Order: sequence, then C-alpha cells, then structure tokens
Amino acid sequence: MTSTVLARPTVLTGPDAPVRRASPRTYLMCPPTWFDVSYAINPWMRPGPPVDGALALAQWSALVESYRAAGHRVDLLEPVPGLPDMVFAANGATVIDGQVLQARFATPERAAEAAHHGAWHATRSSSVTLPDAVNEAEGDYAVLADRILAGYGFRTSPAAHLELARLTGRPVISLELVDPYFYHLDVALTVLDDTRDHLAYYPPAFSPASQQLLAELFPDALIADDADAACLGLNCVSDGRTVWVPAGADHLVGLLTAAGYAPVEVDLSELLRGGGSVKCCTQEIRLPTKGFASC
Ligand code: ARG
Repeated sequence: MTSTVLARPTVLTGPDAPVRRASPRTYLMCPPTWFDVSYAINPWMRPGPPVDGALALAQWSALVESYRAAGHRVDLLEPVPGLPDMVFAANGATVIDGQVLQARFATPERAAEAAHHGAWHATRSSSVTLPDAVNEAEGDYAVLADRILAGYGFRTSPAAHLELARLTGRPVISLELVDPYFYHLDVALTVLDDTRDHLAYYPPAFSPASQQLLAELFPDALIADDADAACLGLNCVSDGRTVWVPAGADHLVGLLTAAGYAPVEVDLSELLRGGGSVKCCTQEIRLPTKGFASC
C-alpha cells in the first residue's frame, strides 16, 4: 500500500529563516471503524455513496504513524458503533493544563460521543468538567500561549466561551464564523506556533469585525487563499515545526515553507466526505507544564 502522508522536507535554511522548534505532544485519536456519511450536519456531507472503510482506515493510520514517527504520543479512544463521526476526536473534549472540559454537541447525531470522551479522560485525570453550554471543543477552540481563540456562529455557543475562560483562567477571544462550509474554527484557522502565537487563517470565513480583530492581533499571520480553504487546508496540526497539512493546499504549503516550518501533506480524502481532516481527527492533550516538584 502506498503511504498517504507525503513528506516535504524542503525548509528554508538561509540566515533570515525563522527557527521553528518542535515540542513533544500527546494526541487522542479514534479509529474510523464506524465512520460513515449517514446524515448531513455540515455542507461537506452528502449521504449516498458508501464510504470506503478500508481507505479511511489506511489514510487515518498513516497520519497516526506520521505523528509517532515525529516522536509524538498518540493514545486511542475506542470507536463506538452508531457514532460515525467519532473519528473526529478534536470535538470531544478540550484539555488545557491537564484540565478537561467535556464537549456538549450542538446536534443530536453526535451528542452521545461526549460521554465516551469524558469516561476516557476520567480514568486518567481527576479534573473532568461537564459543560453547561454547547461547545464542540477543539473544533472551535484554538489554544495560544496565554489566550484562547474561540469560534461561534454554527456550533459552539458564545456562553461556552465564558465557561472556558472561567475554567482555565485564560482570556478567550470570540471570533464569529459566517460561512457554513467553515462551520468550525479549526477549518478556518490553525495555530502554527503556540509559543509565539503564530497562526494561519482564511479571512472570508469570519465576519468583518472578526477579520479586523484577527488582522490587528496577528499582523504576521499567514493568509490562506480560496483553494487552500476549499480542501480544508487550514485543518492542520503543528508541533511548532512540522505542520501536518490536508493535501492540496499548495499555496499554504508554500507560505509555511517560506516561514520556516516543515509542512507534511496528508491525504484524508475519505474523511473529507464527513467535513473533517487532520486537526478534526486529533485532540491535543495539554498536560500541566509547571508546578511539578523535582525529585
Ligand atoms: N461531520 C462532523 C461534524 O459535522 C465533522 C467534524 C469535524 N471536526 C472538526 N473538528 N472540525 O460535526
């Protein structure tokens, strides 16, 4: 079988190239065992032609292997029959400083996934919070060094942003999504370096006021074009140096390379039929970085 993750090792090495450093990550992912497009809750989903389960699994497995080959830890969540979108693990919980905020899904089709995420985290963390407000976790939350960007407009409610701010003690900046094709923040914006708040985004996915805010707060952000966005190219995962990018975002890959990152293209074409790609499949588990006594 041919690999579905194609390495692109070209990184600028000139004196002006910024130095990008990777840091080790822990991810939670869920195999696409029951993945299907049996309902439509976003415009990418067209129920009808059957999903190629073997292809979905091969593509997803190549992503897992690529993370592991880069030195990252990938934990697995048991897939549950009847929950075809569970492969999109980013939506199940948000973990910041070891504090877990369970999701509360906007649609009944996905509602039952939240408890499975909560149960998985409860066996590993003493701090799992059940939310009052609707939130689809990392689908709509992007974690920066000291702040969090939060999307609203289609899934996560603005009330959830306040709940997350209270729980984490971090400022949460609300951004309004306006295009149903970009129904989650993580298909419109990606964090590339979470120590320096460097990111990439697709402006037309946001309201004019949110576009203005993004431009003011992040003047050095990389700006994706229509073609990048159309293949869900913003749905990236970055470890600070390597950026796993949905295949086809050629313009974005060029920007990433010029900015000193090492982009790796990932073909998740079968999962794209559910309206998700790399980041959607990847929940980051952010453990506390401070406060441990040395021994
Ligand atoms: N079919 C899923 C839904 O509409 C896709 C979720 C994609 N996940 C994400 N983090 N954007 O909910």
